[in-house]
Amino acid sequence: MDRIRVIGGQRLTGTIPISGAKNATLPLMIASLLTSDTLTLQNVPHLADVQLLARILRNHGVDSSVDGKRAGQKLLGETFHLTARQIVDTTAPYEMVRRMRASFWVLGPLLARCHKARVSLPGGCAIGTRPVDLHLLGLEALGAEINLEGGDVIARAPSGLKGGKVTFPTVSVGATHNVLMAAVLAKGESLIENAAREPEVGDVASCLIKMGAVIEGIGTSTLQVQGVDRLTGAFHAVLPDRIETGTYAMAVAATGGEVFLDGARADLLQAALDVLCEAGVEIEETNTGIKVARNGTGLQPVTIATSPFPGFPTDLQAQLMALMSIADGKSTIRETIFENRFMHVQELARLGADISLHGDTAEIAGVTRLRGAQVMATDLRASVSLVIAGLVAEGETIINRVYHLDRGFERIEEKLSRCGAQIDRIVS
Ligand code: EPZ
Repeated sequence: MDRIRVIGGQRLTGTIPISGAKNATLPLMIASLLTSDTLTLQNVPHLADVQLLARILRNHGVDSSVDGKRAGQKLLGETFHLTARQIVDTTAPYEMVRRMRASFWVLGPLLARCHKARVSLPGGCAIGTRPVDLHLLGLEALGAEINLEGGDVIARAPSGLKGGKVTFPTVSVGATHNVLMAAVLAKGESLIENAAREPEVGDVASCLIKMGAVIEGIGTSTLQVQGVDRLTGAFHAVLPDRIETGTYAMAVAATGGEVFLDGARADLLQAALDVLCEAGVEIEETNTGIKVARNGTGLQPVTIATSPFPGFPTDLQAQLMALMSIADGKSTIRETIFENRFMHVQELARLGADISLHGDTAEIAGVTRLRGAQVMATDLRASVSLVIAGLVAEGETIINRVYHLDRGFERIEEKLSRCGAQIDRIVS
């Protein structure tokens, strides 16, 4: 299994290109199930999760092809062509869904197009139990009959889905994607209340509109959908990854230096940028990206709680914790989205961080220095928090189980080492 080696102590200086968002790419790829025409996605990041989802979709009948390199083309992600001419299998078995939770989101599109689907329950994962009750509640409101059998969700809508009103009791990104992708082909009007407002939901909705869907309220918590009989193909460029943006911003904040995050959009992560400003990091938004700098000044501690967009994202919580572990004072981070998203705490402690946990709240007493050690990646965002800590730790940090990182960070060693970091991959 590959490992990442980081020798800490280098300031970061230069430019980091921001990739297309993983969490928009996955549902956008799934949206290809809704039409027999070709959906072309540009700016697709080269990630293990994207490759895996392409394989999973192939099982349902989605042909995919990726454009080769073009002369003179700036490295701007890949272009995927996805065509579900005919759905040949409406079943997503456990072996597939357990490997990627987002593959559960095929349920809504399959049900909308084929009027039936059998999809395995995804089960828990390292960050919490993560049930799917909200997905099922939403699809039932659109007329689906749902039964659970042998760990599978069996959903039917013999005469097609019908528009309905869905009011989510709590915000769920995945349930919003699933129900939205079902509602666009349901008969009549649907109202989705307390919908997730994450930019990735908006990106999927914009793509669905290009495919012929009728959706109003993008960016708000109420989505109004007029069902249509069929959708067509479309071209869509995936929006920039706000979590990758925030991660590199925190890396620069930790090491000091000055980096331009090329292609990043500040409006996608304003809450996180505000927290960095409060900590004393300089942030400057330009037309083409975001400049992040910390030169000479110390880091001020912060108090935050994660919350759905536009709040501070749970997907940046671990990275902020790594950063605050070297701040001048005591920070408090409360995790309100997932009940068990603190697996990085004990690994950061191996590097010398002083963190105490009290239920859903972590108290981080800043230390003057971290020291390199062997650590274990437990999930995607936890892994990258260890990279950030490793960049400032004295000596060598070895991060084991790097496959978590490869699921969501494109060319991370290359992007960081081009800015002066000493980081490489030990392939085994
Ligand atoms: C998406 O997961 C993201 N994944 C996650 O990113 C992200 O952390 C999360 O949204 C929150 O922003 C992708 O986009 C692929 P949720 P999702 O449904 O949709 C509870 C990463 O590192 N809930 O918004 O699965 C749930 O348990 C990943 O890239 C129910 O109770 O998250 C959680 O407490 C990790 N019932 C909360 O809602 C349900 O039916 C929010 O989960 C569904 C969710």
